[in-house]
Amino acid sequence: MQILKSYRETRAVQYPEPVSIVIVKDKGSRYNPMSASWVTFTSIEPRMLVVSIGFERYTYELMQNQEEFVISIPSESMSAEVEFFGSNSGRDMDKLKELGTLTQPATVIDGVLLAEASVNYECRLTGTLKTGDHMIFAAEIVASHMHADLVPRLFMLGPKHFGGLGI
Ligand SMILES: Cc1cc2nc3c(=O)[nH]c(=O)nc-3n(C[C@H](O)[C@H](O)[C@H](O)COP(=O)(O)O)c2cc1C
Repeated sequence: MQILKSYRETRAVQYPEPVSIVIVKDKGSRYNPMSASWVTFTSIEPRMLVVSIGFERYTYELMQNQEEFVISIPSESMSAEVEFFGSNSGRDMDKLKELGTLTQPATVIDGVLLAEASVNYECRLTGTLKTGDHMIFAAEIVASHMHADLVPRLFMLGPKHFGGLGI
């Protein structure tokens, strides 16, 4: 039986939820990571995904001048990164430098991969769609990487609560 509830209450019971990190280059040489839950795979051939980014984010501003970005799937040990990248703005600081997060160069695009992540995807923008107060950025995956030790991904287990699924 279904009971009528507010949207806020229905969202609160949808954990665990996957979380990702989108990394976009600024006009200089800095790469800005932003935590993003709203990332979805959308096509098999070509390989494509979308990420939904709020208009107020620095990352949205950067995307106005960028055709390329990385979607990183953080590993279980990266909850501090996800919290930090999701609660601070690249307008105010170099987030990667601030945490001393290990990176390695992307292989096809001008980007960086997060070295400790489970998976990293190099992406090229193909289109956008405005949805309310966020913009959806659709992209083709042009290179895929995974951690050499097959480390499991991180999930959001509840509000501000991150961890692995233990499987
Ligand atoms: C777990 C988590 C998931 C988030 N998911 C999204 C998302 O999908 N889209 C979005 O625009 N912001 C999302 N945010 C908020 C941004 O990460 C946050 O506003 C960040 O500080 C913006 O950074 P920037 O100004 O450097 O772009 C999320 C935050 C957290 C902690």
